[in-house]
Amino acid sequence: MVRAATRPLTLITGATSGIGRAAAGMLAARGHRLILVGRDPVRTELTFRQIEAQVPGAQTHALRCDFSKPKEIHDLAKEVVRLFGGLDVLVNNAGVVCPEYSETAGGVETTFAVNHLGYFLLTGLLWDALPPGARVVNVASKAHMHGQIHWDNLNLRGDYGYYKAYAQSKLANLHFTFSLSERALSKNMTVNVLHPGVVATNIWPRHKPLLRRVIDFAKPWMSTPEQGARTVVYLADDPQAGRLNGEYLEHCKVVVPASKARDAQAAQRLWALSEHLCDFAWPSS
Ligand SMILES: NC(=O)c1ccc[n+]([C@@H]2O[C@H](COP(=O)([O-])OP(=O)(O)OC[C@H]3O[C@@H](n4cnc5c(N)ncnc54)[C@H](OP(=O)(O)O)[C@@H]3O)[C@@H](O)[C@H]2O)c1
Repeated sequence: MVRAATRPLTLITGATSGIGRAAAGMLAARGHRLILVGRDPVRTELTFRQIEAQVPGAQTHALRCDFSKPKEIHDLAKEVVRLFGGLDVLVNNAGVVCPEYSETAGGVETTFAVNHLGYFLLTGLLWDALPPGARVVNVASKAHMHGQIHWDNLNLRGDYGYYKAYAQSKLANLHFTFSLSERALSKNMTVNVLHPGVVATNIWPRHKPLLRRVIDFAKPWMSTPEQGARTVVYLADDPQAGRLNGEYLEHCKVVVPASKARDAQAAQRLWALSEHLCDFAWPSS
């Protein structure tokens, strides 16, 4: 279905693999113009060509950004505004599981930096470029239920576990979404968050032989990236979904997240901390 009058302009981060790549193909088929964001130039170019081949008439543009590097996020936002002026849909999807502890150049643990601060900073930098009716779609995970914000040791220095770091970052996605959805009201925009299911993608850690065997064994029972992308596409494109704001979804349905994710005080504290870590003040509008 190609919309006749206006074709929404949609930016997808982490478009080079898994759920992001599948969502890009599905949204292109629904007539969205796409900005595909990838960190690796070769994989980004390959994704661009695949979408163009898969969907005749697709309008796609590829941009590069490594979300562990704030300077690149600033450059990406500037480039989006320079080239397109604004956006109809922003899909924050780029995510990582880091088997071993690592930090960004700015001293933030990499999982938290990419999975949470990446969403926070890009959305903040593009906030004024999102018009009334725009949608922000944040890809989180059911792993938020096991997450905790470790206020005294956000980096988990000396106490690192890849799942602990991942679950913390995904809980942060929910806090961010629910805070932002309040701000979205005055702009008549929507901001929602989702769990895509357990999906056979490249995100699963494969650094230990036993883990590798377990994941290879489980893959046939996991969802395909296309199945995992359905809720992303629903929130980005469906007219009914355009009425949802501040919701958590699984399988294209609103569901109740872990109660700690609705802790408004924690969300406010995380917001202030995120502004500090990004050295960025959110626009007042
Ligand atoms: N798979 C699941 O079962 C599952 C479950 C719940 C939630 N999720 C969420 O779904 C989202 C997509 O993950 P996926 O499962 O599709 O995994 P994936 O196949 O590994 O895709 C992740 C995407 O994020 C990109 N990325 C990673 N680190 C980045 C960085 N520093 N800068 C820019 N891009 C970066 C990757 O780029 P490269 O191609 O260059 O690596 C890739 O395009 C994530 O937010 C994840 O938390 C997945």
